[in-house]
Amino acid sequence: MTYPYTHYLAAKRTVDDRALNRRVLDDLRGLLPPHPPRVLEVGAGLGTMVARLVEWQVLDAGEYTLLDVDPQLLRDSREWLTAWAGDRGLPVVPQPDGLLLGDLRVRLVEAELGAHLDAGPGAPVDLLVAHAFLDVVDVPALLPGLLRQLAPGGAYWFTINFDGDTIFAPDHPGDDEVLGAYQASMDDRVRYGRPAGESRAGRHLFHHLRDAGAPVLSAGSSDWVVHAGPDGRYPGDEAWFLDFILSTVEAALADRVDPAALADWLAARRRQVADADLVYIAHQLDVLGRAPGAASA
Ligand SMILES: C[S@@+](CC[C@H](N)C(=O)[O-])C[C@H]1O[C@@H](n2cnc3c(N)ncnc32)[C@H](O)[C@@H]1O
Repeated sequence: MTYPYTHYLAAKRTVDDRALNRRVLDDLRGLLPPHPPRVLEVGAGLGTMVARLVEWQVLDAGEYTLLDVDPQLLRDSREWLTAWAGDRGLPVVPQPDGLLLGDLRVRLVEAELGAHLDAGPGAPVDLLVAHAFLDVVDVPALLPGLLRQLAPGGAYWFTINFDGDTIFAPDHPGDDEVLGAYQASMDDRVRYGRPAGESRAGRHLFHHLRDAGAPVLSAGSSDWVVHAGPDGRYPGDEAWFLDFILSTVEAALADRVDPAALADWLAARRRQVADADLVYIAHQLDVLGRAPGAASA
């Protein structure tokens, strides 16, 4: 799979595995129905979350829809999930619209979320997942339609919501300028013709969800923390992950920061990755709750 964003999402998996808030995850287990659930994951990318939920024994049957706007990611998802299942001896049967992973039917749906919601609610789902996604979309505009996808008593689990702090260590004199501009770039981003997220998405979810009638029942930090081990190596493919993050900062700041200052900062950070010296921390939050009208049930 040669698509760089596919490589990024695959490399991000171990970072997310460490970061996901386990207390919120345990609370999620208590909100799942007794029957095999119907799950919708929006902005699902490669499908690493469905693999994780099977590995972590949260799900083993039911129907899981991966919705994403990027057709290349969904094509790669078939290949990635097939290889993942093969490594675990899990039977995989290709389907016209996805895959059967043991008793779990995975459906791949290519759609821009706003357009998908404008078309009206689909079959109600027991669980709505958005992972590393609500910080790249216009939450107030999308939330009512998203929550309408839930069956009565259904649950939402919104994870890895960026919340206002990007940290690199060791300190660099350019940090305040570069990282301040990087945060600001998130607040006026536009993608697919729509506002695309904000730098304080995580903290703002609490009031957005309360106002939508679906207050948060459980929440906790899910910070990414990436550093090399005592062997002087980053785990898994996390050096590649760090390089991709630095390229993302570079792309976001092309017209926002003095080019020489940015080049100096990036060169120092890339050297630190090569030397396994860079530490990267992103503050994020996970939240869990129920469909409107069911929060206190
Ligand atoms: C940061 S990635 C997260 C992917 C996946 N949840 C993960 O963490 O591995 C955000 C994903 O949202 C998708 N996306 C962004 N805007 C979207 C939109 N408006 N509608 C549907 N998908 C969108 C992108 O294609 C990308 O796959």
